[in-house]
Amino acid sequence: MKMVRSVNFKEELETKTREADRVVRSFLPEAKGFPAQMIEAMNYSVAAGGKRIRPILVMEAFRMFGGRGDTAWPFMAAIEMVHTHSLIHDDLPAIDNDDYRRGKKTTHAVYGEALGILSGDALLNYAYETALSSLADGKQTDRKIRALRILANKSGVYGMLGGQSVDVQNEKMGSLSLSSQELDYIYLHKTSALLEASLEMGAVLAGAGEREAAAMEQIGRKTGLAFQIRDDILDVTGTRETLGKPVLSDAKNQKTTYVTLYGTEKAEEIVQELTGEAEKLLERLPGEKEFLCGLLEWMACREK
Ligand code: IPE
Ligand code: IPE
Ligand code: MG
Ligand code: MG
Ligand code: MG
Repeated sequence: MKMVRSVNFKEELETKTREADRVVRSFLPEAKGFPAQMIEAMNYSVAAGGKRIRPILVMEAFRMFGGRGDTAWPFMAAIEMVHTHSLIHDDLPAIDNDDYRRGKKTTHAVYGEALGILSGDALLNYAYETALSSLADGKQTDRKIRALRILANKSGVYGMLGGQSVDVQNEKMGSLSLSSQELDYIYLHKTSALLEASLEMGAVLAGAGEREAAAMEQIGRKTGLAFQIRDDILDVTGTRETLGKPVLSDAKNQKTTYVTLYGTEKAEEIVQELTGEAEKLLERLPGEKEFLCGLLEWMACREK
């Protein structure tokens, strides 16, 4: 992996994170009427923060393929809603049973388990309400429908939820650790799928062709795998203060991870290797991608 991060990378990342955050918040529902408490719970977890990596990826891919204006905004919000839904449910007692997320008490810890389940469901559904609302102006309908299909496929049975479902079987197996093929299936689905969706949707919304969209999907695949391995490493080497979530969650749930299978050092190497491969694929594509390249490198070395 070569270092292409510009001197201004940190500032640019801060600016883009603020932009993404503003877009995401602008699509949140208003907490009013009888279901106000559930809506408050939906907004609680989204507003708690997070790195906003997925909406930033949507926007960067959109710009890279020449996209301008606000067409990508509802899709940026939608992918962050699907992601936040996955986190709320991932933290539930029945899944990872964690009480801290994005620097705050988890949704179920604050609002109770029932509203944790329902607000997670509602966010997943609201993601589609938000993305579908983009069709109202009747412009570029074909591109938006292509993006909607990507969002739906990458979130569901053959995407993130498929990965999460296999991940819950990866628990308390004691010495019976998973095979590397099973583990890769889990990571490529629970984590890569939403990063693939982000890059592919951004490209498609800007008018990218099938081959370019497939290349963006590939970049997301490798980046997502690296992202989850880095997450495993941080679960062991990070701190709760920096991460905003508990450490040693995987050990608590007796999970097989890249760290348990390969050790931290080898896992670090794999993260760098995958990131290098993703960058190579990115270089072959047209468009302005310096920031995106820097972002892939930052993700590989991130501390949170
Ligand atoms: C956490 O995702 C879940 C994983 C896929 C590892 P992020 O690390 O992107 O979480 P936020 O959005 O910044 O909170
Ligand atoms: C979860 O992986 C990925 C999701 C789809 C939520 P983890 O369970 O390792 O994510 P964290 O560490 O709780 O964020
Ligand atoms: Mg989990
Ligand atoms: Mg978890
Ligand atoms: Mg984790």
